Amino acid sequence: MTLKDKVAIVTGASRGIGEAIARKFCQEGASVMLCSRSAEGVAAIAESLSGEGGNAKSTQADISNKADVEALVDLTLQEFDRVDILVNNAGITRDTLFMRMKDEDWDAVIQTNLTGTAYCMRAVTRPMMRQRGGRIINISSVIGIVGNAGQANYAASKAGIIGLTKSVAKEVGSRGITVNAITPGFITTEMTEKISEADQQKMLEMIPAGSFGTPEDVAETALFLASDTARYITGQAVQVDGGMFM
Ligand SMILES: NC(=O)c1ccc[n+]([C@@H]2O[C@H](COP(=O)([O-])OP(=O)(O)OC[C@H]3O[C@@H](n4cnc5c(N)ncnc54)[C@H](OP(=O)(O)O)[C@@H]3O)[C@@H](O)[C@H]2O)c1
Repeated sequence: MTLKDKVAIVTGASRGIGEAIARKFCQEGASVMLCSRSAEGVAAIAESLSGEGGNAKSTQADISNKADVEALVDLTLQEFDRVDILVNNAGITRDTLFMRMKDEDWDAVIQTNLTGTAYCMRAVTRPMMRQRGGRIINISSVIGIVGNAGQANYAASKAGIIGLTKSVAKEVGSRGITVNAITPGFITTEMTEKISEADQQKMLEMIPAGSFGTPEDVAETALFLASDTARYITGQAVQVDGGMFM
């Protein structure tokens, strides 16, 4: 098993990509702490992973709140003694044209996607440094590279994650900690269900692979980046988009 004896935190694990990553990590032998804003949603997933033979625990934590993030990492250390892997997956959209975008929509997306990711990274860096190793995987988006009309706040947050990833990778590389991003394209989840049929069709035509991605496609990449095999890969943004943008 690729992640035997490893301890991982996966944020936003109550559904979609986060759930798939938590499941994959459990299957590969990791002990996993799942979080999301809704305690019930994430508890149900942790319960089902335990039922499948995994070692999973869950807690309510809003990553945009620093105190919640510190409590999440403290709880992980209490329950599992260490933290080897952090997957910053929690994210939101508040789409609208930039000219019409309300300050609340700008602030919510930046505070959750970018600042929340930074809070989580900072909270695990100290224990990872003590352990002389760790893996941080930040879920960005291809939108952070190419931009998208109606998603200025989201694109800015996801581009920010790439800059954050590269900067922290340079700071902690000598301590055995790798920091990478994944930039998914169109992955079928609740987040993309909101997109109209017509827009989905247009996007499908842009994908050389000929289909939308699945949460499992992203989970496989996260597993690789979390593994010992990827020890010499850091500061990268790995595109998982079926060739949509190249
Ligand atoms: N789907 C795609 O095509 C796609 C493409 C590129 C990138 N991504 C990125 O991949 C990640 C997961 O996307 P998804 O499609 O799986 O989204 P999703 O189905 O909407 O799931 C988002 C998850 O994040 C949690 N969450 C949201 N805000 C949170 C907060 N402040 N604190 C803690 N948890 C929070 C949600 O649970 P609660 O609501 O209970 O908090 C849920 O578990 C996101 O960062 C997204 O931007 C997705």
